[in-house]
Amino acid sequence: MQRYEVQFADSQPAFQLRDFQPAPLGPRQVAVAIKAVSLNYRDLLVSRNTYFCPIENGLVPCSDGAGEVIAVGDEVTELRIGDRVASLFFPHWQAGEADGRAISGALGAEGPGVLTPHFVTDATGLIPIPDSLSFEEAATLPCAALTAWHALFEAGQLKPGHTVLLQGTGGVSIFALQFAKAAGAKVIITSSSDDKLAHARQLGADHGINYRNTPEWQEEALRLTGGRGVDVVVEVGGPGTLERSLMSVRTGGRIAYIGVLTGLAGAANPMMLIPRLAAINGIFVGSRQMFADMLQAMVAHRIHPVIDKRFSFADAPAALAHMEQGAHFGKIVIQVG
Ligand SMILES: NC(=O)c1ccc[n+]([C@@H]2O[C@H](COP(=O)([O-])OP(=O)(O)OC[C@H]3O[C@@H](n4cnc5c(N)ncnc54)[C@H](OP(=O)(O)O)[C@@H]3O)[C@@H](O)[C@H]2O)c1
Repeated sequence: MQRYEVQFADSQPAFQLRDFQPAPLGPRQVAVAIKAVSLNYRDLLVSRNTYFCPIENGLVPCSDGAGEVIAVGDEVTELRIGDRVASLFFPHWQAGEADGRAISGALGAEGPGVLTPHFVTDATGLIPIPDSLSFEEAATLPCAALTAWHALFEAGQLKPGHTVLLQGTGGVSIFALQFAKAAGAKVIITSSSDDKLAHARQLGADHGINYRNTPEWQEEALRLTGGRGVDVVVEVGGPGTLERSLMSVRTGGRIAYIGVLTGLAGAANPMMLIPRLAAINGIFVGSRQMFADMLQAMVAHRIHPVIDKRFSFADAPAALAHMEQGAHFGKIVIQVG
């Protein structure tokens, strides 16, 4: 059997196929035949070893997978062979507020990931998926979708009639667009591409701003909200966009701070939080309970993830290169089994 491992060496893709032998299952463990994996921007950071934590040579990459249970340990009662499941980004964050233990062992960075046909984890690290979602669709959810859900409805307290500002048309932002529209909110979305903005409008976006042609996009966000500002910003740009987000948010509004697309360092001035009485919340994916809530909403609203492109297992390095180009809209999927 072969799986991908991160190998940091010159002149080769960081994700390399390697032979492996599955280990025997522990009593609380479950083996999953992974059918599909989706990529996140984080996987690019892992492949460059620029993620928060140091990445060990030989790590199995990627956090987001879905598949079928093929074996369970003696003490596992909550899952059975044949169950359709998705991985949890944080296998220990079950519900409630996160503590250090809850956000330890994240798949595909601190702990082994899912870019393998045979994935083993504790039973608590998996969640059953609804029949209405294919394995490919379910594989897009553990990181990007759950982050968008957490940002909008837990930290952002988004309500019908609110306006949310989304940045770019990658995985997190397109899920946030779908969820915000289902919740009756208005969406302003930015992109480097007019074609992508047109696509976002087809998905329900109310307004699009090309941030290349309109670098002062915060002024447009204010104009579109009659000078009031938006209720929630889903901040995926990071240091390079935060200053404009602070100028876009309404008095008493919320910024869900998620991403680092503009890099890790910056000089945004938090002073604007004072006259705005605004809040910035750090978001780190989410818990199993949030995942369960999100799945219920997706079923009720018939929400299906937007998949940009599918790659074969053998072409996983090409999938990573496709993400690096930034031409995608929504999610990139690797078909595993
Ligand atoms: N904190 C967390 O828990 C968490 C969870 C998930 C993701 N993240 C982070 O969130 C960010 C997005 O992740 P993702 O997986 O959704 O990425 P992705 O799918 O690769 O999305 C990238 C897209 O972002 C847009 N973009 C790039 N630079 C931008 C800028 N300066 N301003 C506005 N948009 C810009 C581009 O869209 P256009 O082509 O339309 O311009 C690009 O295609 C990453 O930094 C990731 O590490 C954090």
